[in-house]
Amino acid sequence: MTKTLITRRAALKGTALLTGAAAIPSGFAIAQAKPLKIGLMLPYSGTFAQLGENITFAVEMYLAEKGGKLAGREVQIIKLDDESKPENGQQNAERMVKRDAVDVLIGTVHSGVQMAIHKVVAESGTLCIIPNAGANDVTRKLCAKNVFRSSFTNWQPAYGMGLALGKRGIKKAAWITWDYAAGAESGEGFKQGLEAGGGQLVQTLTLKFPETNFQPLLAQIQGLGVEAVGSFFSGGGAVQFVKEYAAAGIKVPLCGSGFLTEGTLAGQGAAAEGIETALHYGDGLESPKNTAFRAAFKAKANREADVFAVQGYDAAQFLNAGLEAVKGDMANEAALYKAIETAKIDSPRGPISMSASHNVVQDIYLRKVTGGQNKVVSTVVAQLADPGTGCKL
Ligand code: BEZ
Repeated sequence: MTKTLITRRAALKGTALLTGAAAIPSGFAIAQAKPLKIGLMLPYSGTFAQLGENITFAVEMYLAEKGGKLAGREVQIIKLDDESKPENGQQNAERMVKRDAVDVLIGTVHSGVQMAIHKVVAESGTLCIIPNAGANDVTRKLCAKNVFRSSFTNWQPAYGMGLALGKRGIKKAAWITWDYAAGAESGEGFKQGLEAGGGQLVQTLTLKFPETNFQPLLAQIQGLGVEAVGSFFSGGGAVQFVKEYAAAGIKVPLCGSGFLTEGTLAGQGAAAEGIETALHYGDGLESPKNTAFRAAFKAKANREADVFAVQGYDAAQFLNAGLEAVKGDMANEAALYKAIETAKIDSPRGPISMSASHNVVQDIYLRKVTGGQNKVVSTVVAQLADPGTGCKL
């Protein structure tokens, strides 16, 4: 007769001891043996296509560094182009969560699409790591235990820019942006930073996302009587905006949330020289981590790393920290989330961690475009946490 000896502790751990017969795999062992499905829901077309590509390259790069496995589990990547279209966001997120049954959803870039993803993952409980979109509410009043952000809130970098201007004595500034969540929330951050430094936001100019008919707005700037113009644009739209601003010969200095000149300098050329922005990454940050990261990214993507690549890499780093703590067992949710919440990550941008509302805490740097690079000038705010207003976890 075959005897099966199962200690209670081993059974609880899912590692039953068997003698005399082939071991029957436990639920945990079965789950371990299955590849970990990571869904990448990102823009691979449209004005934010390069942002989505760089996030993807960096996630893949991290996985390759880990030998293709996380916490001992093979990884399968499933990609979906969300085209930065909020109207398709819910359906696309449901495809990943329900049809593809991903274990983790890494996405996305556009704040409006993020709101749609959030609805789906908050309901399904799927682990979601946001590698870019700054929509404030997903780590404020809508925060969820299974949603983490490795990037920023729209408030964070724009607050840093406003504060830097206010502190240097700028009294009146304007804000120009696309009329959607990222533009509006960045504008609010800029205003609050400016006011904290003693300045004032006197005018906001907007156009629809992703339109690029900037001329009617540019024509108004000179008459506003402001000393600085802050802005949020990114990707292809930012390239065009900066070029048109320079070509219009406007005397008021342009600045912004760092996305204005991030990953765009090759396209903007001389038009970007001298522009100041605030962001959680920049050129010339010297650390062994950043040097190694930049070299590896260049080898993989054949272009320079930028903040989007950093955020993608760190999404994978946070995920790995969680998975290591539970040995790849995603069913152990409480321990998985706790490990992500308490992870101390050595990011190419510097040291980072998670706030209580699951948004990244990080240094915000003032940068200036010099010789075709976003050179870090100073740290505006060290280890800035989003206020996380309304989050109850
Ligand atoms: C956003 O929609 O949240 C966003 C898009 C591009 C760059 C930064 C933020």
